[in-house]
Amino acid sequence: MRSISSPAVMQRLALKQKRAGVPVGLVPTMGYLHAGHRSLVEEARRRVGASGWVVLSLYVNPTQFAPTEDLSKYPRDLKRDLAMCREAGVDAVFMPSDAVMYPGREEGRYSTYVVEESLTRPMEGASRPTHFRGVTTVVAKLFNIVLPEVAVFGAKDWQQAAVISRMNRDMNFPVRIVVAPTVREPDGLAMSSRNKYLDPTQRLQATVLWESLKSARAEVKRNGTVDAAALHARLSAIISARSEARLDYLEFFDPETLQPVVEVTKGVQMALAVFVGKTRLIDNGRL
Ligand code: PAF
Repeated sequence: MRSISSPAVMQRLALKQKRAGVPVGLVPTMGYLHAGHRSLVEEARRRVGASGWVVLSLYVNPTQFAPTEDLSKYPRDLKRDLAMCREAGVDAVFMPSDAVMYPGREEGRYSTYVVEESLTRPMEGASRPTHFRGVTTVVAKLFNIVLPEVAVFGAKDWQQAAVISRMNRDMNFPVRIVVAPTVREPDGLAMSSRNKYLDPTQRLQATVLWESLKSARAEVKRNGTVDAAALHARLSAIISARSEARLDYLEFFDPETLQPVVEVTKGVQMALAVFVGKTRLIDNGRL
């Protein structure tokens, strides 16, 4: 497995693979890898085949964090991440520094960003207004540097995957976007690097996101059509019954347009963000 930190070297190697007819698969991550990331690597390997080249990028992207957010505290464990990549059969790890990804940014000399102007507005975009600009910018840069045929993202960040798919189409990147299913702990909590922040009480209460999703699914199955405002109120009550949990948003929407619905039926997408203690967790699912 190769570890590469220079964008120019990465691009050169990717180009060499492409010219040799070797398909390149990209798994973009911010590190602190877990079984969810491993499943993304497995999906990338399935897509490019045994002789393809799977690249995992490991970069905590500063532009997707607001100044008030947890950038400096974001968990990091490079040694463990590299061991996991080796074990998962990753061919190359791309791990650039901020200085090479955003040259001159500290001094105000980095000035090009990629912005998606519609799907980024609700939910994560409303709660974290500068977040998606950072995500689309870094993913566009990674596409240009790693030159993948296929890039794999996790369904846990469902809105992110929708925004990236839209950017990919709108900007004509020759990349196939694959969205792999959320990997869950045995009690249903979606795997996330941020779960590490939870203390034992918070960890127990964090299952409330999954319980809300299951409860919404059960109601839709039972009743066919459910009033969105009433369902929102019932689920909010379930969430606020947990002493450590505070709802940030909970939305029912059309999975294509991300527009909210007033009646919840089978096929509607639900997404929610909940602070458990100080940790903000997200989850989503099709009802
Ligand atoms: O989902 C993530 O880990 C990040 O948002 C991504 C896609 C790697 C961009 O930094």
